Amino acid sequence: MRAVVYRGPKNVTVEEVPDPTIQSPTDAIIRITTTNICGSDLHMYEGRTSVEEGKVLGHENMGVVEAVGEGVDRIAVGDRVSVPFNIACGTCRNCTTGWTSFCLRANPTEGMDGAAYGYANMGPYDGGQAEYLRVPWADVNLLHLPEGTEHENDFTMLSDIFPTGWHGVELSGFQVGDRVAVFGGGPVGLMAAHSAMIRGASQVFVVDKETDRLALAEKFGATPIDFSAADPVEQLMDATGGRGVDRGVEAVGYQAHDATGEEHPELVLDNLAQVVRSTGGIGVVGVYMPQDPGATSDLAKEGRIPWQFGTFFTKGQSMGTGQAPVKRYNRQLRDLIVAGRANPGLITSHELGLDQAVEGYQHFDDRDSGWTKVLLHPGG
Ligand SMILES: NC(=O)c1ccc[n+]([C@@H]2O[C@H](COP(=O)([O-])OP(=O)(O)OC[C@H]3O[C@@H](n4cnc5c(N)ncnc54)[C@H](O)[C@@H]3O)[C@@H](O)[C@H]2O)c1
Ligand SMILES: [Zn+2]
Ligand SMILES: [Zn+2]
Repeated sequence: MRAVVYRGPKNVTVEEVPDPTIQSPTDAIIRITTTNICGSDLHMYEGRTSVEEGKVLGHENMGVVEAVGEGVDRIAVGDRVSVPFNIACGTCRNCTTGWTSFCLRANPTEGMDGAAYGYANMGPYDGGQAEYLRVPWADVNLLHLPEGTEHENDFTMLSDIFPTGWHGVELSGFQVGDRVAVFGGGPVGLMAAHSAMIRGASQVFVVDKETDRLALAEKFGATPIDFSAADPVEQLMDATGGRGVDRGVEAVGYQAHDATGEEHPELVLDNLAQVVRSTGGIGVVGVYMPQDPGATSDLAKEGRIPWQFGTFFTKGQSMGTGQAPVKRYNRQLRDLIVAGRANPGLITSHELGLDQAVEGYQHFDDRDSGWTKVLLHPGG
């Protein structure tokens, strides 16, 4: 089959690789209909992870079940399904309490709880930017979708970014009527803004410098804040009468940069501690790494990020972090899509064939104007 393969920094290729096979009775094989490029893939693409060459990328997958192992009984051949980016066993302590993103059994990597498809340190699993994908523990992991092709571009956001945005809002301790500042207007930040609006925020701000992304934020009913125009903390304080926001969502990650493009991994954490009111909450879904050899400072290379913890403490703020447990939310979010209450597909900017993945990576990585979210359709 054809697949997108990591070959080194800024180098992905579309190659012929072996078809996946059923390896365990609880496996399923999915024929991929849509698979997205994610901001998380860019950390690998830019050479800022330890991902090995030859890895098939892609953790945002959906499709139709092609084959099932003999131990699979909830999922059948022909079912249309969404595949959460987390690979979960469904039976360990973390999985049974709803934390499938920290499954204790799926990832053999020392010191890492939680597994995913086609991702650095997340286990030996190939990704789904390919024609077919092997899904372990298929009964646990797969979400049924209505038959046919309707809502394809909405449902494809269920594998990661829509639940992740929702999780960022959840981790912030959100309550109805809150004012929320989302840092990062990429796909995850936009989904956090959409989620906060659906959940009854009184006002949502989205902070970024990319004007096309800020324009999309407005489409979801959010107020755009351009951090290249002026200090975003001052802008948010002015916009809230000096009070600050109730909740903050971090949807940028460790490659946060200033208006000149220079990286400062502490920048957004500092901004959030400053702009969230006392006793307010912060949800961090942007990724931070235990080690970052590509960082500019020696501390950051060791995963140490000096930030305004004193401000955070003094204001009595709280913070939640980590990979999103997609399965906790994806059924409910699917139903909001079907009911017409959620439109995550609105952020789709490009739909490409698998063979165009290389240009998709280049443009999305450059944050070229208009390249907000790239969907690949391996079937053409
Ligand atoms: N926790 C999870 O489960 C999970 C899941 C998916 C993605 N992620 C992570 O979420 C983050 C965002 O993902 P994405 O797909 O939206 O990526 P993206 O790279 O497309 O978007 C990041 C955005 O942040 C903006 N940005 C950079 N510095 C900023 C600053 N100082 N202030 C405000 N905005 C700034 C960039 O301009 C960009 O638009 C990444 O770190 C990704 O790895 C986490
Ligand atoms: Zn993703
Ligand atoms: Zn588990």
